[in-house]
Amino acid sequence: MKMPSFRLEGRVVIVTGAASGIGAGLARGLAHFGAAVGCVDVSAGGLAQAVADIKDSGGRAVAISADVREEGSLTAAVSRVEKELGPLAGAVNCAGVHDSFAAESMTLQQWQRVVDVNLSGIFLSCQAEGRALIRNGGGSIVNVGSISAHIANRGLRQVHYNAAKAGVAHFSRSLALEWAEHGIRVNVVSPGYTATPMAKSPEVWPLVEHLVADIPMARMAEVEELIGPAVFLLSDASSYCTGVDLLVDGGAVCW
Ligand SMILES: NC(=O)c1ccc[n+]([C@@H]2O[C@H](COP(=O)([O-])OP(=O)(O)OC[C@H]3O[C@@H](n4cnc5c(N)ncnc54)[C@H](O)[C@@H]3O)[C@@H](O)[C@H]2O)c1
Repeated sequence: MKMPSFRLEGRVVIVTGAASGIGAGLARGLAHFGAAVGCVDVSAGGLAQAVADIKDSGGRAVAISADVREEGSLTAAVSRVEKELGPLAGAVNCAGVHDSFAAESMTLQQWQRVVDVNLSGIFLSCQAEGRALIRNGGGSIVNVGSISAHIANRGLRQVHYNAAKAGVAHFSRSLALEWAEHGIRVNVVSPGYTATPMAKSPEVWPLVEHLVADIPMARMAEVEELIGPAVFLLSDASSYCTGVDLLVDGGAVCW
């Protein structure tokens, strides 16, 4: 019997949203498990640090500025990753934005900004990555969703965010069906409340005590706790998993 491998040695993986929070943690985590990481973000700030940390630990990484709302920018990012690190084998699409507005006064622009990054950005990222993976004979994509695809967060006015995240879940399931024939697995990791700049935003932070009271494990996640689930879904250990939405939420949606 051949034991499955959780390691990512020799795999080139793109992480979008790699300059901050969960994406920055996942970029470092995937490198720790052996992947060469294309770190992609619209903001240059934390990208250089993530890449420097990976290289200091003996890993391989490249920092690429790209906007997940722009098809051309993503195509160029994938080409550069392949040129510098090798053929693409996987991706974690983590770039996202969040804000809060009452539904009755939310403008179309406010709605559109969140849907453009959090849902259309996932589509465009998967498309650019998928074209390379089809060419390379397969791979694994992990889209970062949210518990907000499963529940409407008590006290948070974010119909745009919740709708976009629900879209990510069903988009990913649909893509898993389409791309099984190409040997590409498509799964979702759905974090609960996680201690990042997004969760410390003025809309969310004042509610944290109240939100945490609704979590059976009675605390937020640390970014590191998302690494194991992402490594699992990218590695051969999950070779029969596709279309899965893996909740990492301390039991928050169990109530
Ligand atoms: N923090 C939480 O509690 C939580 C919970 C559930 C889901 N999530 C999801 O996890 C993901 C990461 O969130 P986070 O908490 O780490 O947030 P964060 O704000 O710390 O990081 C988000 C990153 O995405 C990048 N980004 C934003 N727009 C972009 C664009 N157009 N193109 C490329 N990059 C862009 C930002 O520059 C930033 O580096 C998001 O998809 C978010 O919805 C977060």
